[in-house]
Amino acid sequence: MNASPVGIVLAAGKGTRMKSSLPKCLHEIAGLPMVEHVMRAMRAAGIDRIVLVVGHGGELLADRYGHEAEIVWQHEQKGTGHAVLMAREAYGDATGPVVVAAGDTPLLTDRHFARLLEPTDAALTIGTAELDDPTGYGRIVTDGVNFLKIVEQKDATPAEKAITTINTGLYAFDGPTLFRLLPKVGADNAQGEIYLTDVAGLARAEGLDVALRDLGDPEELVGVNDRWQLVEAGESWRRRRVKALVLAGATIPDPTTVYVDATAEIADDVTILPNVHLLGRVSLASETTIGPNCRIKDSTVGPRTLVEFSVVEGATFGADCRVGPFANIRTGTTAADGVKIGDFVETKNADLGEGVKLPHLSYVGDASIGARTNVGAAAIFCNWDGFRKHRTEIGADVFVGSNTTLVAPLTIGDRALLVAGSVVTSDVPDGAGAFGRARQETKEGWADRFRARKKGDR
Ligand code: UD1
Ligand code: CA
Repeated sequence: MNASPVGIVLAAGKGTRMKSSLPKCLHEIAGLPMVEHVMRAMRAAGIDRIVLVVGHGGELLADRYGHEAEIVWQHEQKGTGHAVLMAREAYGDATGPVVVAAGDTPLLTDRHFARLLEPTDAALTIGTAELDDPTGYGRIVTDGVNFLKIVEQKDATPAEKAITTINTGLYAFDGPTLFRLLPKVGADNAQGEIYLTDVAGLARAEGLDVALRDLGDPEELVGVNDRWQLVEAGESWRRRRVKALVLAGATIPDPTTVYVDATAEIADDVTILPNVHLLGRVSLASETTIGPNCRIKDSTVGPRTLVEFSVVEGATFGADCRVGPFANIRTGTTAADGVKIGDFVETKNADLGEGVKLPHLSYVGDASIGARTNVGAAAIFCNWDGFRKHRTEIGADVFVGSNTTLVAPLTIGDRALLVAGSVVTSDVPDGAGAFGRARQETKEGWADRFRARKKGDR
């Protein structure tokens, strides 16, 4: 006996109107495929077992979700009822409720599924919504009191078309009843399809209870059928996320230019200024300030750290760091607390100790830099010899003078001082000074003599 719910997500349709080679359900909202939004919402509602029905582009879906969902194939798309029937074997002799959703409804939340799963004696609970313009949706037909059937737009009489209560395409079925009734559903309708919605009529005909549950705000229930609807759904998702962040204590003065992926984790009390993209697995600690004008991807930002006018990817920052303006922080950069990275600095595979300063115009690649070390303007870490990468290890409390070239592999000891303009090619021990530049010669009166000579040439 297993009475826990089983989710079935329908994702076999082609999505012709997307005009795309990618299956419709893999088009993304906030950095995640639409179908993944649906599955995340299901899981958040405690539906751990998910059967994903695939067809068009099914290999892509199977590759991506085979480890987290049971994949079943619907090779020919004969309708939503036929699609659910494909999951019968996977359901097997389970006894729990079956929750069905389409993979193209990315704004669903766990609340919707929780609402459908509220305890009931009904054989079927249908999620409904009230729409000013119900065109295109299946209508909920009642006798004024009791549910009678769902009728599709293409099969509806003029009187039925006037009904504004629609079928959202979200349902909770008594599992065994669903799979007992489904094989009885025919395809005698305008589209010649096996409609899942006809199960409701069959249940009523048997005298079973069918419950209707209004799921509220129809904007969250929209299905995406073309690219413009994808844009609108994305906009709607974004506005909701930003609103939730703001109500949780974030300062976001311009929500229209802030893009926060579904996978971002954002603490309370952050400030996100205009034109900020937080992509993938970004985590912001409290009191961080991001922006204006930043793209941050797959990175962790510690408390009170400020990042402005910069691009950051695959990096980790501790507390109280300052980044930018105009820094390019690349994969493998880790910065301890209190690090300062200023304008026109690029870092890659760089471990920066506490309080390290890279204030301006440097490239720091494949390096580790000890605490409190200061790297002057225009220091360049030469990590690539044209064939291989090499590392530079710098100790604590080092001073790297401006315009220094560090040719890796290189180890610089604690407290060393590399004088400005040096080309450093060999290791420097603790406390040593390194002078890797041509010695200056100053010639008294030479400039005046030079000019006088040149004048005679005119
Ligand atoms: C369906 C409902 C309609 C409801 C609407 C809500 C039916 C018959 N109608 O209509 O009452 O108002 O959803 O959005 O169920 N799919 C398959 N295999 C198929 C057919 C469809 O996997 O053979 C998948 C599609 O990929 C899609 C979902 O099922 O994700 C819904 O199918 P779609 O054809 O878009 O149904 P609607 O016409 O929107
Ligand atoms: Ca649809």
